[in-house]
Amino acid sequence: MRIAVYPGSFDPITNGHLDIIRRASRLYDKLIIGVLNNTSKSPLFTAEERKAMIDEAIVGISNVSCDVFSGLLVDFAKQNGASVIVKGLRTVADFEYEFQMALLNKALNPEYETMFMMTNTKYSYISSSMIKEVAKYNGELDGLVPHNVILKIKDKLQREF
Ligand code: COA
Repeated sequence: MRIAVYPGSFDPITNGHLDIIRRASRLYDKLIIGVLNNTSKSPLFTAEERKAMIDEAIVGISNVSCDVFSGLLVDFAKQNGASVIVKGLRTVADFEYEFQMALLNKALNPEYETMFMMTNTKYSYISSSMIKEVAKYNGELDGLVPHNVILKIKDKLQREF
């Protein structure tokens, strides 16, 4: 069975992420989305909230599931029996950092391969920070994030400010 993990912060999940998830789900028997419970970033949503938004967005994609993880990505991959790490590349700017992470993960555990997928051009300019920025100033989020995320982000920002 070919199992892959797709890791990230997903604060929140965007249509760019979802596009990668849909396409990767066709290449592997099972795709497990790993939501990093990161201590270095100060996320808007808790890891559990980020997972809940992803769970709603992936309804109907039968071979995809989502879990929260902390610690090393290679350990999360191992716990899930995965042999592949899927990452999306948006622009050349992503490349250097992603290349470094792929090499580090390979050094940590040579069994894992990182597979890069080019983000669909219509989503290449989206990032989670930009989504939060647009939402903060009441900008239109239709088409940029899944519909359930629009409601959650508006609700969250109303509570914050
Ligand atoms: N569409 C839209 N946005 C995308 C995207 C896509 N296809 N792919 C990436 N992004 C954006 C994210 O929205 C995020 O935007 P932001 O910076 O505005 O929040 C940005 O790219 C970075 O993504 P993020 O998921 O936050 O982090 P990352 O890709 O740099 O790496 C992990 C996250 C989880 C893979 C990495 O930190 C990790 O493996 N951590 C575990 C610890 C570990 O093993 N460390 C050693 C190896 S690095």
